[in-house]
Amino acid sequence: MMEITLQSPLDMHIHFRQDEMLKVVAPLSAQHFAGGVIMPNLLPPVDNLDRLHWYTSEVQQACVGHTFDPYMTLFFRDYTAQDLELAKPHIIGIKLYPAGATTNSDGGVQEIMSMAHVFDAMQELDIPLLVHGETHGFVMDREDEFCEVYRALATRWPRLRITMEHITTQKAVGLLDEFENLRATVTPHHLIITLDDLAGGMLQPHLFCKPIAKRPEDRDALLQAALSAHPKLMLGSDSAPHPRDKKECPGCAAGVFTAPIILPMLAELFERHNALANLQAFVSDNAQRLYKLTPPAKTITLSKTAMMIPELYGSVVPMWAGRELSWSVTAIS
Ligand code: DOR
Ligand code: ZN
Repeated sequence: MMEITLQSPLDMHIHFRQDEMLKVVAPLSAQHFAGGVIMPNLLPPVDNLDRLHWYTSEVQQACVGHTFDPYMTLFFRDYTAQDLELAKPHIIGIKLYPAGATTNSDGGVQEIMSMAHVFDAMQELDIPLLVHGETHGFVMDREDEFCEVYRALATRWPRLRITMEHITTQKAVGLLDEFENLRATVTPHHLIITLDDLAGGMLQPHLFCKPIAKRPEDRDALLQAALSAHPKLMLGSDSAPHPRDKKECPGCAAGVFTAPIILPMLAELFERHNALANLQAFVSDNAQRLYKLTPPAKTITLSKTAMMIPELYGSVVPMWAGRELSWSVTAIS
């Protein structure tokens, strides 16, 4: 039987939420991954040390029994250099949301360049900056427009390590080769779907997320970069659970929930393109190098054994619910 083993896969962008939702979704990531970057967009956001310590302990409790390192983030705001120095040992980076760009981002940044002093301090302390890169322009153009902001940040702070989170466009892929200090995450769903899958036929709320899926040429550029294990591209699923009644309604919340199916989806995709040999770099090695991480040892075996994607995990409908995947996780050690 066809098999592949992955060493210490990492999901560099996950939404775990809190309370009951955290208890349902955290174990689903913690079983398949050796670590992951946990997003801070709770209500209220994780934007001070007390809240960070509380959230870290909640996440750890939810992952008990699994070998999994949660890499915590703070929600970007006008921090002092001293705030940052105190936070540094406890975080992998700081996540910047433009105000109102997506779920729970109302407290985000209004005017990015007015935060120069914070970027100065982050650069000095070598704290990575993680960015939700969308303007408030036309929905299909938001990321491309934001590429000017990435250029400005990368140029003015050449030693600041900047991650362009969940990139969705050909233009963003191009920036990786232009600026030494830019790197990116990409989601499995943006490697596969385009706007057509979401809205070309009957509306598919479980494929609706921010940034919205784009054009075929964008998807193809992302896929090419992932399949070829571009050294500055990392898996970051942006797995973002919302209860079913917040997705299947007018005013559908943005977020695609993929945590339990990420690795099978990727094995299927990479096999189809004869690129299984590059999966390890995409799901772990690149992130380890770019973030200077040493995750716990964990071996995940995937086999070409079909799995049926459940209709629900708790109250959450996963991407492709009810469909079959040709690969599944068959051993964890
Ligand atoms: O679709 C999204 N959902 N995009 C984000 O940036 C946030 C996320 C969420 O928190 O639900
Ligand atoms: Zn996200």
